Amino acid sequence: MPDPIAPKDQLDLLAQEIQSDPLETAADLDAYRIRYLSRKQGRITELLKQIPAVDPSDRKAFGAAVNGLKSLAEERIAEAEARIGPVDDAASGAPDLTLPGRRPVRGSLHPITQARREIERVFAGFGFTIAEGPEIEDDWHNFTALNFPPDHPARDMQDTFFVEPPSGPGTGIFLRTHTSPVQIRVMEGTPPPIRVIIPGRVYRNEAISYKSFCLFHQMEGLVVAEGVSMAELKQVLHAFAVEMFGTDVRMRFRPSFFPFTEPSAEVDIWWKDERLPDGGRWLEILGCGMVDPAVLEAVGIDSERYTGYAFGMGIERIAMLRHGITDIRVLYENDARFLEQFA
Ligand code: DAH
Repeated sequence: MPDPIAPKDQLDLLAQEIQSDPLETAADLDAYRIRYLSRKQGRITELLKQIPAVDPSDRKAFGAAVNGLKSLAEERIAEAEARIGPVDDAASGAPDLTLPGRRPVRGSLHPITQARREIERVFAGFGFTIAEGPEIEDDWHNFTALNFPPDHPARDMQDTFFVEPPSGPGTGIFLRTHTSPVQIRVMEGTPPPIRVIIPGRVYRNEAISYKSFCLFHQMEGLVVAEGVSMAELKQVLHAFAVEMFGTDVRMRFRPSFFPFTEPSAEVDIWWKDERLPDGGRWLEILGCGMVDPAVLEAVGIDSERYTGYAFGMGIERIAMLRHGITDIRVLYENDARFLEQFA
């Protein structure tokens, strides 16, 4: 049984404190309210709870005194609030624990990286390993060893970004225009049998449009061994297309020309698009062919004993086909609204 009656002088003392406690800051105000009026341990609250236990003859006076203290405290609080503003959790820096959580933004791989990895996965299943080479090349690897004649238009200043312009035939240092020079580097460094794919960036000084950019990615393939045939090349590329685009993929081989392959072909994939009169169109994805014996000889491989096939595909083209992207440039703008769609 608590002492029901607070002596009069104690009430006076309390009144003095209520009157004089500092109320300068929001923190003061908070502490003040808790000290006197909090429901659990406020000093005035405690006294209010005692009122019913007070002897009936004193109860009225005691109740009036305590309620007077309460009004005094409330007045000071109101006055302080008007002066320093109400205590607001956000302004006081305290976190609002009732707010819903914020979901962290998840990054994702760029669609070109996704396509590259997917192509690598498929060819790894066919027993290919990955090779890489430099992006800055010399004339020998990029052109001469690949059987480009000296006056070939691809060697033109117009098409190539030079680091060191040519000072005569067969010279010049520049950004590689394709991944085929890595074929030369691989063959220079490894005896057959060879079975590699070569991903990488390539550069062309071309007019930029919906289907070509000055920078793009290729996936080169090279197989050199005894008895390698064009039939095997067609089998491998068809199996790749089925893995990549599904069993209903439509693909065609078109005869073509490259200095480093003989015979040469290009492969198109049917791009379904209901908006077009024919319900779609052919999109070229790669060039390929049997490695020209002159290329094997240039790197010292016996072309009587070994044959080879090669291909070079555009990784952007694969990404565009997979996702129905109609303009290559969106792959290079890095607009988050575009990229978020590939998470
Ligand atoms: N290097 C060629 C280009 O950039 C693509 C190519 C065609 C690569 C035929 C090959 C090939 O390996 O055999 O257009």
